Amino acid sequence: MPVTDQPCDIGFIGAGVMGKNLIMNLVDNGFRVIAFDLDQTKLEALRAQDEAERGDASPRVFTCNSYTDLLASLSAPHLIVVSVPAGDPVDDVCHKLIDAGLQADDIVVDTGNSLWTDTQRREKEYEGKFILFSTAVSGGEVGARFGPSLMPSGDPYAWTRIKPLWEAIAAKVDPETGKPIERKAPGEVVAKGEPCAAYIGPSGSGHYVKMVHNGIEYADMQLICEAYQVMRDALGMTDTEVAAVFRRWNEGRLNSYLIEISAEVLDTRDSETGEPLVSMILDKAGQKGTGLWTAVSSLQLGCPAPTISEAVFARSISTLKDQRVKAARLLAGPDQALPDVAEREAIIEQLHDALYCAKICAYAQGFDLMKTAASEQEWSLNFGEIAKIWRAGCIIRAVFLQSIADAYERDEELDNLLLDAYFAEQISTYQANWRKAVANASLWGVPVAALSSALSYYDAYRTAVLPANLLQGQRDYFGAHTFERTDKPRGKKYHVEWGQAGRPMVKMK
Ligand code: 6PG
Repeated sequence: MPVTDQPCDIGFIGAGVMGKNLIMNLVDNGFRVIAFDLDQTKLEALRAQDEAERGDASPRVFTCNSYTDLLASLSAPHLIVVSVPAGDPVDDVCHKLIDAGLQADDIVVDTGNSLWTDTQRREKEYEGKFILFSTAVSGGEVGARFGPSLMPSGDPYAWTRIKPLWEAIAAKVDPETGKPIERKAPGEVVAKGEPCAAYIGPSGSGHYVKMVHNGIEYADMQLICEAYQVMRDALGMTDTEVAAVFRRWNEGRLNSYLIEISAEVLDTRDSETGEPLVSMILDKAGQKGTGLWTAVSSLQLGCPAPTISEAVFARSISTLKDQRVKAARLLAGPDQALPDVAEREAIIEQLHDALYCAKICAYAQGFDLMKTAASEQEWSLNFGEIAKIWRAGCIIRAVFLQSIADAYERDEELDNLLLDAYFAEQISTYQANWRKAVANASLWGVPVAALSSALSYYDAYRTAVLPANLLQGQRDYFGAHTFERTDKPRGKKYHVEWGQAGRPMVKMK
């Protein structure tokens, strides 16, 4: 049974934190939404939020109690947005919608953090039953409410129907400055500016791009945490002092949402004790899987993303809390004296530059990964546009993304961001401090896995001859795995009977 007099524009399934905020964003922008959730309390909370925000005006959000009522309250062909946890719940909703009478030209949009291969599988599985489209969403609950970054992908026809919605609710960027246009109040709408929503490509590509966004997010967060640990453990700074440094950094090249919130987290005091809250947070990091998927994909594609992987490992090692506490008593660190207060400012400057250079490398890895995946999947990704839709709304938003967009504007076929003249020059300018920061942290015994892996990545990438010649020799020695020669045409494979001086080299193929 329809629950509204007039059919609604959008059916929305899942009124959890993200769903509720996306719904409120849609209604702010004038769309008529009917929502359904298996959990009635979530629908009640949604109605309560609408009531609180609309004042005396009539309800802007409608809710219903079943999939059938949801379909009955929509105009056909139906457009349904789903915001449920990634994995089985998405398929469960799809099956329930099919049972409720979904038609072949109806569109279902998955907005969760789905694994990109699941999205590809789903698109095939549901072909002919309905059109599965996907839109990866970044920005957390505030982003969902006031302007997220959206990475839509799938059926191009579905995109024509969804585009006006997503362009309306997405975060906006001022085209003149490249900076986000702030929107913070309920009911407020930003009609001008460039929307952070761009069609990414065929099925799976949007979720792949979001996965890499999250991998970069992991790296960004870990790099900031390592700078914090050096300031805390080697320089003996208080959380409030570190917060002040992050605030200063946020005024310059490192300006970003993650630096901004790190300062706020460090400056927040516990309401009970009055102590900095962060010192009471247990140092065991959680993860939902997208960083891990990024690292796995980089290994599978043979596309190096060590800083992203190190960020995942850093979370894993953090979970070994009990072992670490034991090891802290048993395992010796270096004898090196910690720095003097007089050196503090210089060391902070080194850390700043290290964070900046390592960040460039983490993004270079992420973009390289997307390029490699695109070539394997035959997607034609627009990297400049991807950088642009990450300038606002998403968790890794930063002024820095404009420089990446500019780099792809200069050369859309760029092999690696490090090869762009601007980034090459930036690293060359700041690398001395990066090296000092990594070397000092290692002398003081402070772990900086992400900062140093980025440096090794940079050094390996700029090394014309790596020791892989020896490695190939080792492989051929024990396993006759063959090698190519530098003095012969590429592609020809050779094998030697190692250890038997004078034995002739055999050309394998
Ligand atoms: C975003 C976030 C979002 C979520 C991550 C957190 O872009 O809005 O990345 O997707 O916060 O899933 O992931 P972890 O729990 O793995 O840190």
